[in-house]
Formats: sequence, C-alpha cells, structure tokens
Amino acid sequence: MTTLDFLSETSLFSNLSQEQLKKIEMITSTKEVPADKMLFFENEPGDVVYLIVSGRVKISKISASGREKTLAILEDGDIFGEISLLDGGLRSATAQVLKNTKLLIIHRQDFLKVIHKYPEIGSKIIAVLSQRLRDTNRQLSNAHFKTVTERTKDLLLKLVDEEGKEVTEGIMIEKSLTHEELAGLIGTSRESMTRTLNKLQKQGWLRTTNKGIIIFD
Ligand code: CMP
Repeated sequence: MTTLDFLSETSLFSNLSQEQLKKIEMITSTKEVPADKMLFFENEPGDVVYLIVSGRVKISKISASGREKTLAILEDGDIFGEISLLDGGLRSATAQVLKNTKLLIIHRQDFLKVIHKYPEIGSKIIAVLSQRLRDTNRQLSNAHFKTVTERTKDLLLKLVDEEGKEVTEGIMIEKSLTHEELAGLIGTSRESMTRTLNKLQKQGWLRTTNKGIIIFD
C-alpha cells in the first residue's frame, strides 16, 4: 500500500482531496520498527506524532519498581504521540512496538500547521481523545467495581465485537494478544489471566485452541 493510499483510508484525513493528501504525504516520513522495540518513554520530550500503517503498539505506564499498566494496544490506522504535541508537555506514557510495525511520522510544527489549515482534522483528533478518555474511564471503573472474571469476560466480548470470526462452535478471537497483553488490558497479572481463562473453559464459557479463543454462544 502506498503512503497516499494509506492516508486516504485513514479516518483522520478522509475528508481531504487527493491534492491535499499529496501535501500531507510530503510532510510524512516512514519508519519500520522491529518487534519489541521501545519507541519512546514517558516523560521524554515529544516532537513527532505517529500513525500506524501496519503493526501493533502498546501504550503503557511503568512504575518506579518496573510494574507495568497497559493503557491501550493500538493497531493499523491509529494515531499516537498527539498529546505532547498538542499541549507542549512531555510524553504522557511509554510506547513499545509489539510486532514488526510500519509507522508514518509527522513533525510537530508540520502537524500543527495541518490542524490549523484543516480544522476538521482537529475535530477528529478531539474525537480520538474523547474515545480514549471513555476507554480509560471504563478501565478505571472496571478495576474498582468488577472482579477479574467479570473484567476478563468484558474484554473477551469487546474483542469478539472488534475482531471475532464465526466458527462452527461459536466465535473465534484469533491469537493476536498474549495472556500477558490481555492481562495488562484489564490490570491483572499474567498468572491470574491464565487461571481465569482456565476457569471459564471449565465452566463451558470458552475453549482455548492453538489458533485462539473460541467463545461459545
Ligand atoms: P503522548 O503523550 O505524546 O505520548 C504517549 C502517547 O500515548 C500519547 O501521546 C497518546 O497518543 C497515547 N496515550 C496516552 N494515554 C492513552 C490512553 N489512555 N489510551 C490510549 N492512548 C493513550
């Protein structure tokens, strides 16, 4: 896929004409990042914004003792690194590439000019930030009010909605996230996630296979 094709399919830029997209293309550069590489750390200065062409990026907070809380796992078409660009502060979280990932990079001044020139892009970024606040509020209230089993069921149902594929027994969530990554998304440990999945399997709620997790009706 060319950069121009990608930009025209990205919701942020979907209202722009081919001419306008070509101008955006001119201010982007491409970066291929291998799996597991740290892209940036919380509290570093940030002067670029990233768009994921293909791959997966984990956004997390890491405590002084090294414990980690995953805030989000971002995928194709997602934008990140916009917060420090917009408020001029430091990176609000750490970003790590989880699998080989292709990124588009736009520098701060260029990105701010684009937002001034095309205010609808600014509105779309507000929508992205609003969705992230909603997701974060949901994670926060779930962590306070729900058990690990309830949180695991909620997460699996969300993944069913987002990427589930119908199979004869039910709906399959293909193995794209490890138990550790699933655990991070609901704020529990890998051991507890594995225990909970085993428990749900015994209760006839799901079946884990080599290809992924099948959720029954
Ligand atoms: P920035 O603060 O520049 O660097 C870290 C990035 O992680 C941030 O911009 C956002 O793009 C992203 N980010 C921070 N917090 C969240 C969150 N709660 N959900 C999704 N993405 C986030």
